[in-house]
Parts: sequence; C-alpha cells; structure tokens
Amino acid sequence: MKFQGIAGNFTEANVEALAATVFKGEKGTSGVLGDLNKLTGGLVAAVIKAEEFKGETGETALIRFAAKGKVKASRLLLVGVGDKKDYKTHSVANVAGTATRFLRKRNIRGFALLPRSEGSASEIAQNSVQGFITSQFELDKYKTKDKNDKSVTELVVCVEGAKPADLKNGIARGRAIGESMNFTRDLANEPPNILTPSEMARRAQTMAKQVALKCQILDEATMTKMGMGSLMSVSIGSSQPAKMIVLKYTPAKSTAKKGELLALVGKGITFDTGGISLKPGEGMDAMKYDMSGGGTVIGTMRAIALLKPTIPVLGIIAAVENMPDGKASRPSDVVTAMTGKTIEILNTDAEGRLILADAVAYAEKQGATRIVDMATLTGAVIIALGDQNTGVMGNDQKLVDDIIACGKTTGEGFWQLPVSTEYSKQIRSDIADIKNIGPRGKAGTIMGAVFIQEFVDKAKWAHLDIAGTAWADAAKPHQAKGPTGVAIRTLLKLVEESQ
Ligand code: BES
Ligand code: ZN
Ligand code: ZN
Repeated sequence: MKFQGIAGNFTEANVEALAATVFKGEKGTSGVLGDLNKLTGGLVAAVIKAEEFKGETGETALIRFAAKGKVKASRLLLVGVGDKKDYKTHSVANVAGTATRFLRKRNIRGFALLPRSEGSASEIAQNSVQGFITSQFELDKYKTKDKNDKSVTELVVCVEGAKPADLKNGIARGRAIGESMNFTRDLANEPPNILTPSEMARRAQTMAKQVALKCQILDEATMTKMGMGSLMSVSIGSSQPAKMIVLKYTPAKSTAKKGELLALVGKGITFDTGGISLKPGEGMDAMKYDMSGGGTVIGTMRAIALLKPTIPVLGIIAAVENMPDGKASRPSDVVTAMTGKTIEILNTDAEGRLILADAVAYAEKQGATRIVDMATLTGAVIIALGDQNTGVMGNDQKLVDDIIACGKTTGEGFWQLPVSTEYSKQIRSDIADIKNIGPRGKAGTIMGAVFIQEFVDKAKWAHLDIAGTAWADAAKPHQAKGPTGVAIRTLLKLVEESQ
C-alpha cells in the first residue's frame, strides 16, 4: 500500500483517477470543481446540470476524459456528501471509502483524493487513509473462489497549503487506526470453531509482540483461584477453556496524574448459544460476533501501541464460550464473584454481564481509576437505538459526556440511557445479593448496565452496549456488510484527549 500527501494542486498527482468531494447544490463551475470542470471539458457542470448527479451523500458519478497536459488521470469520480454544513472532517473517511470501493470495482489501482475539508491537514490525511483501508475489508476470507481479488493500492491525498509533516503524520495515524479497525473486524468475522477463547488469546499475544505491548493471559486455574466464580460459571459448560487477556500499554514518558489508569474492558464471548437458557436456532449464527467488545479492546490497544499516547492504558478481554452441557450452569444456580458478591443466575443467556462482573473488578484490582467496558450485551439496545447509536451508561457523567463528545468528532453516535438506584433495585435477588436479569421486557439494556455497575467500586465507569452497532447487516457505499470496528476511533480520541 502506498500513500502520498500532496500540499499543492491535484495536477501533481501521478495516478489514474481523481476523486472529488461535491456538496449538494454546487454547479461545478467555481473553485476546485471549476478547475476539474475545465479539465474535463465541461463535463462536471454538465453532469450536475442534467441531474445525473446531485451531490447526495454516498452518490457517485464517474467521468472519463482525455488526459491533458501534465495531468495523468483520465477519470474523475464525483463523490457526493450532501449539505456543506453537515460535512465534517470525519466525513472524509466515508468519501475516501466510497471512492475506493467504487474505483476498486472498476480495476483502478490508485487515485488522488480531493477531500475539500476545512479541518486540519493531519486529520484530513488521517481520515482519508483510514477510510481507504477500512473500505477494502471484505467478508470473503474463507472463500476459495469468487473472492474479491481487486484492490486499490495507492492513495494520494491532496490538501492545498498543508505542511508536508502534517500530511505525513496524518497518513501514519490513519494507517495505524484503519489497520487496527480491520484487525478487530477480522476477529469478529472469524467463525467460532476457529476463534475460540484460546485462539483469541493467541491472536492478542502475537499482535502484542508485534507492536510491543505487554500481554498476560490468565488461565482457568488462575481465575478460579482469584475467585472469579461469575466468569467461570459461564465457561463451565464449554469444552473450550476461558482466557482473560490482559494487555498493558505504558508510555515512555507519562503525563498522567499519579495513580490514574484508564482500563478498556471487553466482552469476548466467542459464541453465545445462550447456555441452558438456549437461544432459538434461527439467527443463532450471528452470535459469533458476541466477542466484538473484546475484539474492540484488542484493536484499540493495537492502535494505542502504534500512536503512542502519553498515558498508560490497560486492556482486559474476558474470552469465554457460552455452551449448554451436562456441566453447564442452570437457571437458579448461585455463584460468587471475585468481589464476594453473590449472584443468582436466572438466565444463562445473560452471560455477558457475568463475565464482565469479574473483568471490571479485576481491572479495578489492577489499579484502574477509569473503566470503559464494551459489549454486545443486549438485544434490547437494538430495539431502542438500532444501528445508528451505541448505548452508553455510567456512574460518572463527565466520562459519559467525554465519550459522547469524542464520538461527535469521530462521527460515531453514542446515546445515553439512565442508570439509577431505582433500576438497581430491580436486580435484587430473593436468595442472593443480586440476580442477572431484571423484570421481563423492561429496560433490558439498563438492567445489563446496573448489573455490571455492582462490581465497580471507586472507579469512574462507563458501559458501551455495541450490540446494534458492531455489525452492519447491509453494505454501505464506503463499507462492506459485517463487522464495523465501532468505537475504536472514539476510544482513541478519548485516550488522546486525556493526555
Ligand atoms: N449476546 C446477547 C445479546 C444480543 C442479542 C446481541 C441479540 C445481539 C443480538 C446477550 O448475551 C443476551 O443473550 N442477552 C439477552 C439478555 C436477557 C436474557 C436478559 C437478551 O438481550 O435477550
Ligand atoms: Zn446471551
Ligand atoms: Zn452474549
């Protein structure tokens, strides 16, 4: 893959095609579009005038023209972005992705992007490269034929007047982020017979070695000894042993306040059958993505290791398989978590919160003062928010607000749901301290959150329910269907804002 930043005019790009952002309502006769219009002999304005292209978000139009003078390109792709006022720096990633996927299908190997964004050159370059990389992820890893064998290998980002060092920095960052997102997406796409908890641990370990992160794997004997009876109650029905993956990033020079430690904690259920509270067969295959929270932590930690922020970050992934079996937990079993709290398991399909209970407690034991956990925790969040927003809840409004604000700059939606003692009361058990489900059909997503909250002591904590956002059921102009890598960009922003 080859990336280049150009601080001058697009005419300097030595590639087959140009791709330009077009706002809704533009005529194509002034500014850089006017220049492109001249280059194409008036075709830009003509295509717009004929309403063959209106500049709606995700819309594309390809114009072929005779290469002229020193411009090598003979194709111009117009990429619509809708109203100019809605065009943000993060939108550049979608423009880059839309152009890449469009041109890839047409055998083009390299193109120059004219993002026309008013953001910083570094951020424009970052978003361009990230969008270019993530747009080329496909689900076809296990196909032996009809595999997508085309790829665009060269991207030139044109930002007039930019400092070359800013472009270079943005390109490197975009690459680190895009490849880390694809790393996470590859994990989520893996079939569960391949991505067992042990394999997830191995992948994390190999990645950690490559990017110089510390990685420790806790096995079942260790977890049992530490008293993680809640996590182990989920694993007990599976022949695959559970693993707790612990990744640690330590900056060369820390700017964190003494004793401050951010932990990212992920649900890594490599397959969720529901256990004895067995899920219906139809659609159960989707539950291979139930490790997406854990996969997100692994990908985010990878990017952190490459971006080298100045605060330490701990990544904890509870990798467990939830299976029915003669040894599996039963509804009505009572187990004891690492904190000593007792749990009545009333539904073995509410297993994510059971493993996260011990994982967040472990994070705090390791010194975490801020914890963000992420999980495909509830079907209810899909009903509440669909695929546009991740549900966010927490015990610290500032942390929740920070996540929502970071999401605004990365283009990822987060929507807060309330947690309060009134809700917490609804998971009190008749025979143990708490039960793992709330009243049937009521506030399912909040019930999951307040359960996890029971295992957070002093730390500031936020919970992200990514069940609706971690997997896209349909392809988009800039993205294949399947795992999305949601929240990685926002978490990276949160880390960098905390420096
Ligand atoms: N992994 C599921 C959540 C889920 C369901 C994600 C559907 C995506 C689509 C989770 O472990 C689960 O089964 N949750 C139950 C909780 C219930 C038993 C309280 C749910 O949401 O139905
Ligand atoms: Zn479940
Ligand atoms: Zn689950």
